Amino acid sequence: MPLLSKYLTRAVITLFFSATVVQGMAPERRATVCNGHAELCEKSYGSVSFVGAHDSYAIGSRNMITVNQDQSITQQLNDGIRMLQMQAHLEKGEIRLCHTSCQLFDGGNLQSFLGEVKAWLDANPNEVLSLLIVNIDNVAVAQYDSIFKAASLDTISFVPEVSPVPASGWPTLGSMIDSGKRLVTFLDNGAESGSVPYLLNEFTNVWETAFNVVDPNLFDCTVNRTKGDAASQMYLINHFLDKLLLGQPIPDVSKLNVTNAASGSGSLGAHVDACVTLNTRPPNFLLVDFYEFGGGSVFEVAARLNSVQYNPTTPIASPLSTSTSDASTPNNNSAPALSYSYLVASVTVVASIVFGAYCLV
Ligand SMILES: *[C@@H]1O[C@H](CO)[C@@H](O)[C@H](O)[C@H]1NC(C)=O
Ligand SMILES: *[C@@H]1O[C@H](CO)[C@@H](O)[C@H](O)[C@H]1NC(C)=O
Repeated sequence: MPLLSKYLTRAVITLFFSATVVQGMAPERRATVCNGHAELCEKSYGSVSFVGAHDSYAIGSRNMITVNQDQSITQQLNDGIRMLQMQAHLEKGEIRLCHTSCQLFDGGNLQSFLGEVKAWLDANPNEVLSLLIVNIDNVAVAQYDSIFKAASLDTISFVPEVSPVPASGWPTLGSMIDSGKRLVTFLDNGAESGSVPYLLNEFTNVWETAFNVVDPNLFDCTVNRTKGDAASQMYLINHFLDKLLLGQPIPDVSKLNVTNAASGSGSLGAHVDACVTLNTRPPNFLLVDFYEFGGGSVFEVAARLNSVQYNPTTPIASPLSTSTSDASTPNNNSAPALSYSYLVASVTVVASIVFGAYCLV
């Protein structure tokens, strides 16, 4: 009897402690909604389609030929943009987001842009976001690294075990959110060495279709730029329509409703359908101008590709009015004084056309 009770006591104590240990452990965080949908938690980042804002920082009145968006970065993100594309220039030693040149359009410095991104990510912990940086002046990744660190974005940046990552090799959105590493950043060049492991080489990971398309019948789904194996990489479609102004491509704002529509000739919907047919899988990133044209149609297209319902809780932003009074009150603090910048842009573009120096991309 005493022996039995001794064993029993020991067994009870063991059970008690193991139960306590298990209960005492912090429960693992498990995201149940990822990028707005429960279904996306189990999907690989590499098989989800995201809508991206082409030249996301080039914000202003659509009267300006150097502008590709008219909503603030926070508004873009609130409405559903999940890739911010940008052109980074080195101006007096600082990385600034300019369009073609900082004289033509200066959208502020990278650090304040990233500060706005960080604030939004903090307020939206169940979201995975991508950045695509066109490193036009070949700035060393170490300089980007210090700016990402200053904005506290390095600690939430995703680092793959090895890069490049094939489309099929990416973790699920759920696991990225659970781990807190939910910002994915690509550089079109300069990240080849991998010396800053969260700054990923775009073209070894992603291929792109042609850009600066000026005929809606010519939106295509074939490989235009890559430095990897297109068959296994993620891919990005450039779905923004330009027109030529004295030989220079500028956004064709008059056709935005058609270009950004969910279906019909020349639409984003038709473009992705053609790409699914040709490449037997959906594009990962859909890059558009003035995303809010169509009243959410671009997000509807992505939702269809992701097999989820597009159900925004609040209506997305309305296009900014292009009247003169609006043009002098920009809706984003990173936009420069528009009248001045419009003047400079106009003069510069006229000059550039004369000298054939600029190509707006
Ligand atoms: C890629 O697209 C650009 C313009 O968008 C074009 O000039 C170039 O010829 C294309 N290159 C290839 C390899 O398709
Ligand atoms: C274009 O979209 C705007 C708002 O998104 C709408 O007011 C306008 O009627 C549309 N125009 C056409 C031609 O569809």
